[in-house]
Amino acid sequence: MEKRTFLRHIGRFAAVTPFLPYALQASNTEFPDGYVLEKDNDFWQRIRADYALKPEYINLENGYYNIAPQPVLNKFLDHVKKVNYEGSYYMRTVQWDNKKGIAARLAHLVGCAAEELIITRNTTESLDLIISGYPWKSGDEAIFAMQDYGAMKDQFELIAQRFGVVNKVVSIPNHPKSDDEIVALYEAKITSKTRLMMVCHMINITGQILPVRKICEMAHGHGVEVMVDGAHCVGHIDVNIEALDCDYYGSSLHKWLSTPLGAGLLYVAKKNIQKVWPLLADAIDEPDNIYRLNHTGTHPVHTDLAIADAMDYLEIIGMDRKEARLRYLQRYWSDPLREVEQVVINTPVEVHRSCGIANVGIRHMSPENLAKTLMDEFGVFTVAIDRANVQGCRITPNIYTTTEELDRFVGAIKILAARR
Ligand SMILES: Cc1ncc(COP(=O)(O)O)c(C=O)c1O
Repeated sequence: MEKRTFLRHIGRFAAVTPFLPYALQASNTEFPDGYVLEKDNDFWQRIRADYALKPEYINLENGYYNIAPQPVLNKFLDHVKKVNYEGSYYMRTVQWDNKKGIAARLAHLVGCAAEELIITRNTTESLDLIISGYPWKSGDEAIFAMQDYGAMKDQFELIAQRFGVVNKVVSIPNHPKSDDEIVALYEAKITSKTRLMMVCHMINITGQILPVRKICEMAHGHGVEVMVDGAHCVGHIDVNIEALDCDYYGSSLHKWLSTPLGAGLLYVAKKNIQKVWPLLADAIDEPDNIYRLNHTGTHPVHTDLAIADAMDYLEIIGMDRKEARLRYLQRYWSDPLREVEQVVINTPVEVHRSCGIANVGIRHMSPENLAKTLMDEFGVFTVAIDRANVQGCRITPNIYTTTEELDRFVGAIKILAARR
């Protein structure tokens, strides 16, 4: 089918069901040689039509959370209505089976066994559960990075006070020369007392992707376990937990999987489940049953159900295509700006070291001033980052972002860089 004809088909079917056209796209379409989907603005324009976007500004701050596309949002609202209609009947009959089924599908998506993954509310809950539930002894040591997320660093501070754990902190360069350089930074902090290290899969303030597999290999060689903060990875890049060979992995699904707010996952390698203390006690007494760690009390079960819809939507686009598009959009704005005087890109230039997220600063502007000016003068919404070795604005386009919007952003940065 010609691409043009195909796109007309998309338009026709879209009125019937918003999910269907992409399924056709995924399986039946033949494109001419040399066709590159991540650059096909027509295709992504159709995806954009699935989003309700505020016209007042260009949203380049999708890192906090990704709004759900309308088809997923509508299914979520259906779940809210159904659960409210069935009430306790729903809660007492299929609630747990539904959640387990969705967790198993998530496990498949991220490449681990179903009995090693649970649904949580977010990364904070997932990782803080491990940090606080780890069987610490006074004098044990933990390692994390200055560039890691605040909530987890705070939790490490808490267990330092509570159990006498000693925290060692590394600093990740914005432009590492090699994987080995990063591995060596973590290795240098290991002693015979080190038990656990936290490693970001993708650093949230710069978008830098770390060589997690190599870090795990090194750490395991010293008998140290690795907990990975994958808050920004599921639904953004192709995550395969088995291939990473980590001990624990946490992610937020309301970020790049675009579920409604309040969905996350926690992976615990089977051999480690028994050693972790739950955050909230559960009646399950089999030590290596991961559901022992998953007591929540009554919670918004419709959010759990919508995870399946978000996975449907992702599958229809294709994880590889989404990853390619997000990387394309990032390079679309960051490559030209790397050449501009006064502009600093705080994200590595090698393609495999980042995807959709990057960070840009202007030497003569504070990050706060840059974010404010971008919004007030140019209608571009971003977030200022001013900590550790990162001074700039984090830029996170989404799959609905157009290249025209990025042209406007690049133009704004050029104007500001020239304005001394
Ligand atoms: C690297 C990283 N870890 C953890 C979190 C916490 O995510 P949540 O607030 O969804 O728990 C974030 C949130 O932005 C993050 O960027």
